[in-house]
Amino acid sequence: MTAPKRILGLCGSLRRGSLNLMAMRLAGALMPAGSTMEELAWRDVPAFDADVLAQGLPDAVKRVRDQIAAADGVLIVTPEYNFSIPGMLKNLIDWVSRGDDQPLAGKPVAIITASGGPVGGARVQYDLRKVMLFVNAMVLVKPEVFIGMAPTKFAADGTCTDENTIKFVRAQMQSFSDWIDSVRRMKGG
Ligand SMILES: Cc1cc2nc3c(=O)[nH]c(=O)nc-3n(C[C@H](O)[C@H](O)[C@H](O)COP(=O)(O)O)c2cc1C
Repeated sequence: MTAPKRILGLCGSLRRGSLNLMAMRLAGALMPAGSTMEELAWRDVPAFDADVLAQGLPDAVKRVRDQIAAADGVLIVTPEYNFSIPGMLKNLIDWVSRGDDQPLAGKPVAIITASGGPVGGARVQYDLRKVMLFVNAMVLVKPEVFIGMAPTKFAADGTCTDENTIKFVRAQMQSFSDWIDSVRRMKGG
């Protein structure tokens, strides 16, 4: 029995019918009993500008940073754009990453990618892992979850129709919960 966790879900797609949002909700539903997922709303985060930062963090960025700080872990579920991180998601991470008190440092993070292509966003996962390394996030290594041919795996209402996807996502959510406990122990908490 693992302790209940508060997970923050960060979807890298802003699209209303996003397959990644469907995958994120699937993960939220498959977490170990007692854990909850809150969906991060981040559409209002502006374009990163160091001159704006010099005047202080915009309210939208402060809110996102506070939500990350308050979460036990962050699940990033994102598409791959042109073999890499969607620009808006990278922009958000850039904002969050500034300052000694940036909340991704030491934060348990898990990654899922879903794409229309057969490899399920494998390339963006490794770019995202590289960025998470630089911000000192504690990224779950395995199991990796790549949801390829995603349009064939979700119904229009968001229901996942693929048993293997459900199996992999459930296993990752259990591992993520265990990983959060391990990170807590490493920190002496
Ligand atoms: C700008 C852009 C770039 C894309 N580049 C890739 C890519 O490099 N690899 C890939 O597998 N799919 C790519 N796609 C297709 C996405 O996988 C597909 O649109 C997916 O459904 C987007 O995720 P979403 O449904 O969560 O919005 C791209 C889509 C867009 C809009």
